[in-house]
Amino acid sequence: MLLALLREFVRPYRWLLAVVAVLQVISTLASLYLPTINAAIIDDGVAQGNTATIVELGMLMLAVTAVQVLCAVGAVYFGSRAGMGFGHDLRAALFHHVTGFSAEEASRFGAPSLLTRTTNDVGQIQLLVQLTCTVLVTAPIMSVGGIAMAVHQDAGLSWLLLVSVPVLAVSNYWLVSHLLPVFRDMQRLIDNVNRVMRDQLSGIRVIRAFAREPVEIARFDRANRKLSDAALTAGRWQALLLPVTTLVINVSSVALIWFGGVRIDAGHMQVGSLIAFLSYFMQILMAVLMATFMLIIFPRASVCAERITEVLQTIPAIGSPAHPVRPERVTGMVRLDAVGFSYPGADRPVLQDVSLTARPGTTTAVVGSTGSGKSTLIALISRLYDATAGSVRVDGVDVRDYEPEELWSKIGLVPQRGYLFTGTVADNLRYGKADASDDEMWQALRTAAADDFVAAHPDGLTMRVAQGGMNFSGGQRQRLAIARAVIRRPAIYLFDDAFSALDVHTDVRVRAALSDITADATVIIVAQRISTIAGAEQIVVIDDGAVVGAGTHDDLIADCPAYAELADSQAIGAGVGGPRGDLA
Ligand SMILES: Nc1ncnc2c1ncn2[C@@H]1O[C@H](COP(=O)(O)OP(=O)(O)OP(=O)(O)O)[C@@H](O)[C@H]1O
Ligand SMILES: [Mg+2]
Repeated sequence: MLLALLREFVRPYRWLLAVVAVLQVISTLASLYLPTINAAIIDDGVAQGNTATIVELGMLMLAVTAVQVLCAVGAVYFGSRAGMGFGHDLRAALFHHVTGFSAEEASRFGAPSLLTRTTNDVGQIQLLVQLTCTVLVTAPIMSVGGIAMAVHQDAGLSWLLLVSVPVLAVSNYWLVSHLLPVFRDMQRLIDNVNRVMRDQLSGIRVIRAFAREPVEIARFDRANRKLSDAALTAGRWQALLLPVTTLVINVSSVALIWFGGVRIDAGHMQVGSLIAFLSYFMQILMAVLMATFMLIIFPRASVCAERITEVLQTIPAIGSPAHPVRPERVTGMVRLDAVGFSYPGADRPVLQDVSLTARPGTTTAVVGSTGSGKSTLIALISRLYDATAGSVRVDGVDVRDYEPEELWSKIGLVPQRGYLFTGTVADNLRYGKADASDDEMWQALRTAAADDFVAAHPDGLTMRVAQGGMNFSGGQRQRLAIARAVIRRPAIYLFDDAFSALDVHTDVRVRAALSDITADATVIIVAQRISTIAGAEQIVVIDDGAVVGAGTHDDLIADCPAYAELADSQAIGAGVGGPRGDLA
């Protein structure tokens, strides 16, 4: 998975990475050459008191160092560019893919996990790419070259390598093998902290109102503690890594100097050679160390790659058909034919055998008790979900045969929870119509009876909207959502409980204004208040996912007991305490 992902996303940067590799090779070779020059300075220059040689070799050493530094800097520069570019591309791919998800896929992963996958997980792989192009080139050259140069300096001491390298490799491997499971857990625990945090931030008002802060703090604390415990465990093993490595390296150096001293005493070796050998020895052990770092990063990155690939390979359930139908004009006739629907994973259907026809120029109201499936019905028409039985048709064409964007552009949806986006009022209205003029915006706001509070604000259309529209009241939010749908002048209007937070007076005003604009359009209104929908040409009563009655208000009062009961209960409510709107 990791490799497939790398192959796909590293491809655009392969030339950049090739440059990095070449620079690395030069830089590594230069650093391999340095100890040999150093040895020559000591043996041929210092030991024999030859100042000219010292200066000459010193100059050479400086030149080689300069080359090495330049190449190393260049490698880091280009390596970072490739790594960052790779991260950017991968994040972009994830984002585009996720925007295509329907509600089902999005809820399968969950927003917090998708967030972690797009940020933290991509970061891990990016780190891997950056380090790979340095370590993967440097470590082999350094270790093989180092061994060759060391043996060349003095073969008699090479046996020390046979001891130190395995000891270092095995001890590091032992540490890393303890780290891996912890890393695997950590990615999941980061998801978890994000989830709890998000939940609490969005629910902050409820938490305050119910004085649940201590409980929530404890909940966050648990998630947080688990993550920090895992990170601490990982940190402890990582902390051991450096001392163990240093211990092995230093003990080896002492042994090297000891046995080297013995050989120099016996006249088998020169001082310069010993110093060079010591440098190579260090370089080899460093290469081994770098390789073990790769061992740490690689598994973590592959966990991340699995998580990212999982997202990228999810095919959204709502997609474009192979041969989309593109009608010239959509009049907006909506027809449901024996529609059934079950939410994924649910054992009983939410809608069963629902048939209805909503014609252009008429208003169809859908009423029913809470949880009876009204919002689900709206979601099926706007194709946020696909019906599991029967068919939903717009102008006689199955909604699955439209290009989704094309279908959505014909629909003005006011969802039950009208979500507003961070920005300004005008930005939000442009969601409905991208090139709307100020006049159109004011007109839409007037229709939705939202012009008063927007006009009263000094910023007018540029009035700020906080995330989710939190700086508006429930009713203001609903009216802005209505304006957003109205401004696009769609063929089909879907109002899901869009008037619930309006007082009766405003409700009447908005509906009167709407009836002018929606004269030729198909209007489907979901409502709880009978007064909102009593004038509709057709009222469909839904109970527990099935249609139990359809007709005009008067018909239904006469022969639909469920509707009569509903009307009755509201008449009493109105008589006693006045009509009451739901809280949004
Ligand atoms: N995303 C979902 N996943 C699983 N089940 C769901 C989902 N959304 C709704 N349901 C279930 O479907 C049923 C119908 O929900 P729906 O939102 O359509 O009701 P509603 O008629 O709009 O209710 P209300 O009047 O309260 O808005 C409910 O029992 C609910 O539990
Ligand atoms: Mg609903």
